[in-house]
Amino acid sequence: MSVAMPPAIPLLGHLWDWTAHPLRLLSAGAAAGPVFQLRLWRRVLVGYRPEWNRAILADLDTFRSVGSLSGLTPYLAAGIVHTDAPEHQPRRRQLNRHFSARALGTLSDRLAELAVRHRPQATVDASAWAGALVRHMLNAALFGSAVPDPLLARFLAPLDRRLPAPMLPRPRIFGRIDAAIAAVLAAPPPGCVAEHLAGAPDAIEQLRTALAAGYDTTAHTLAWAVWHLAGEAGQRVPDDLDPLIDEVLRLYPAGWIGSRIAARDTSCAGISVPAGTMVLYSPYLTHRDPLLWPDPTAFRPQRFAHGRPSWSYLPFAAGPRTCLGAHLARLMLRSALGPLCSPALRQCGGDPTPRPGLTLRPGGRLPIEVDHARVRRSPRAVGPVNVGRP
Ligand code: HEM
Repeated sequence: MSVAMPPAIPLLGHLWDWTAHPLRLLSAGAAAGPVFQLRLWRRVLVGYRPEWNRAILADLDTFRSVGSLSGLTPYLAAGIVHTDAPEHQPRRRQLNRHFSARALGTLSDRLAELAVRHRPQATVDASAWAGALVRHMLNAALFGSAVPDPLLARFLAPLDRRLPAPMLPRPRIFGRIDAAIAAVLAAPPPGCVAEHLAGAPDAIEQLRTALAAGYDTTAHTLAWAVWHLAGEAGQRVPDDLDPLIDEVLRLYPAGWIGSRIAARDTSCAGISVPAGTMVLYSPYLTHRDPLLWPDPTAFRPQRFAHGRPSWSYLPFAAGPRTCLGAHLARLMLRSALGPLCSPALRQCGGDPTPRPGLTLRPGGRLPIEVDHARVRRSPRAVGPVNVGRP
């Protein structure tokens, strides 16, 4: 069967559009068919319907991570992200224990405390506020807050910048962060993930990769979430934040594109996939497919009243290599937003249009301010939040 293809430029193929307007290119591809090909520096196949997502994400023997797009950045070309079958499954099982909702339950008081301490006091840009808070939260969760914050900020800063900044090798800062993680592992504060990984030969690499994978993804999600929360007319109770978070993750999935390399000749959703082909799945396209999501560009948290559909909702991917930090991300998001349901915030303008880079990020500023009149009317303090399912 011939594979659909959006319009391409002679000789260059889709490379220019991929660099300059990847979301527009993906949408043009989706209009051409449920599976389409792009001519980048190599031919890639892209699909976004549930059957494609399942085929790509459920079969780790055939669809491999090594050689895929994550290998282009030193922040992700390591640890479990860079491990394939058969080693992936046993190592993931061991790591899952330390990132489960149960294991993370002990952290919720500490994260709630950080959220209250970093509550916006005046007008702030949601992205800058979210980046700093998530950095503190990850430091608490992974390292018991034992890594010096300026070092953490320097290590993570390139992830906040445009491409190619996150792709460049940075051996000096990587060496310094590895040394700091080694120091934490030598005497880990009780209750943090480092305490559980101490003694494992790959502990430094796994912790560094989790830190990098968890930072900009969660920070961008939090920025959009707090901005939408600030725009709501009514007051939301902290226990009712999940639908808002779900809808933010649907419209703005930080992991907007994922890739694998086919290890053998195979076929997916009726399309033949020769060995060595790069295949992409796109939570961005899946989440905006009108066949799967009525009125897909509308922000409507209530659409999650009946749960989250599998394979057509994949902000954390799905299958055996679903996001290791999904529980932690949701816990950080709930903890950060809880104290902001009351006292209340207000949007002051802002542009939530997503801009793709290594992850999807807010393209414009998202300013929010404290609505002091509502704070006076509703001075209720908010305690730790529940650790729900991911
Ligand atoms: C809202 C926040 C987050 C989003 C949207 C997100 C999204 C994702 C997605 C889509 C993947 C699959 C990538 C692929 O294989 O194609 C992934 C994997 C991963 N994520 Fe997250 N993530 C978030 C937060 C976190 C946090 C907080 C951590 C760690 C503390 C983390 C650690 C990881 C790791 C280690 C993997 C690789 C898992 C494996 O290959 O087995 N993520 N994430």
